[in-house]
Amino acid sequence: MKAIVRHRYGPPEVLELQEIDKPSFKDDEVLVRIRATSVNPADWHSMTGTPYIARLAFGLTKPKPRRLGIDFAGTVEAAGRNVKQFQPGDDVFGATSEAFAEYVCVAEDGPVVRKPVSLTFEQAASVPVAALTALQGLRDHGHIQHGQKVLINGASGGVGTFAVQIAKSFGAEVTGVCSTRNVDIVRSIGADHVIDYTHEDFTRSDHRYDLMIDIAGNRSWSECKPVLNPQAILVVVGGPKTNRLIGPLGHLAGVRLAASRSSQKVALFVTKVNKPDMVVLQKLLEAGRVRPVIDRCHELSDVADALRYLGEGHAQGKIVITVQS
Ligand SMILES: NC(=O)c1ccc[n+]([C@@H]2O[C@H](COP(=O)([O-])OP(=O)(O)OC[C@H]3O[C@@H](n4cnc5c(N)ncnc54)[C@H](OP(=O)(O)O)[C@@H]3O)[C@@H](O)[C@H]2O)c1
Repeated sequence: MKAIVRHRYGPPEVLELQEIDKPSFKDDEVLVRIRATSVNPADWHSMTGTPYIARLAFGLTKPKPRRLGIDFAGTVEAAGRNVKQFQPGDDVFGATSEAFAEYVCVAEDGPVVRKPVSLTFEQAASVPVAALTALQGLRDHGHIQHGQKVLINGASGGVGTFAVQIAKSFGAEVTGVCSTRNVDIVRSIGADHVIDYTHEDFTRSDHRYDLMIDIAGNRSWSECKPVLNPQAILVVVGGPKTNRLIGPLGHLAGVRLAASRSSQKVALFVTKVNKPDMVVLQKLLEAGRVRPVIDRCHELSDVADALRYLGEGHAQGKIVITVQS
């Protein structure tokens, strides 16, 4: 099968499309023929080996994992003898490792569920990591409640476009922050209010929010605090990529420390890919309450271009890879 392989850390040029063996599945796994996948900042960090601190886990001088890719959507080609939930021919989507490839093996109890029939493979492949991040940020760390005023800073990218829609599904009043070219997109996915950050600084506004999801991760605690209600929660999802040693960790720790004596809370988290939350997303998608926003589609041979574009930090929704049509 064809797969994206790399032997060293570096820019997108380190990625190679190679012919490798098709994986063999275990008794509790399904073999999925991947139809589409999508790129996430996690793939970019893994490719570049930045921040350097991550190399303690992934290999100091060379990456131990030679393959990349997390999100996938495709069709079950074969199932292990203990698999009960899926059979060959089922269309599924989920999260795994090594998804920039034509086939992948996934445990049936892992983060894989049936693809809603209303979604294309490209749409389904755009969902897992970004939407799980939005869901867990809002629900588990932000404790979102019906009627709350929620501010989403970075509303137009992969995580942000899901966060706006999932916050609306919880009955929140949503304000999205994005640049001029994305104002219509953010409004079209249901934001009640949109702030164009090139014209207006939300940290200087008179509005107060019960929950702020900082996906762009570009504001300090002293900037955010004035727009937060006394019992508000700030969930920091992303941070600047400028510090190559520790990446966004410095920003995250700084916000946490600065807020330690405030009545408001700051939450930081790492997304957990899991089946129960994939089921929640599957239901939201089936009900039409969340619809993926896709910026562009690339071929599997163009994963490098997709990651180069993602690395620029201005995606409009998700960047998808069509693997096999
Ligand atoms: N905690 C976790 O486990 C977790 C999981 C997933 C992702 N993340 C992090 O979350 C961040 C976003 O991920 P993503 O997949 O959504 O990235 P993405 O698809 O590249 O989106 C980035 C978005 O940020 C917006 N943006 C850039 N500068 C901005 C600014 N000054 N103010 C407001 N928005 C701005 C861009 O909109 P404009 O073009 O309009 O500027 C773009 O739409 C990354 O740092 C990623 O590492 C964390």
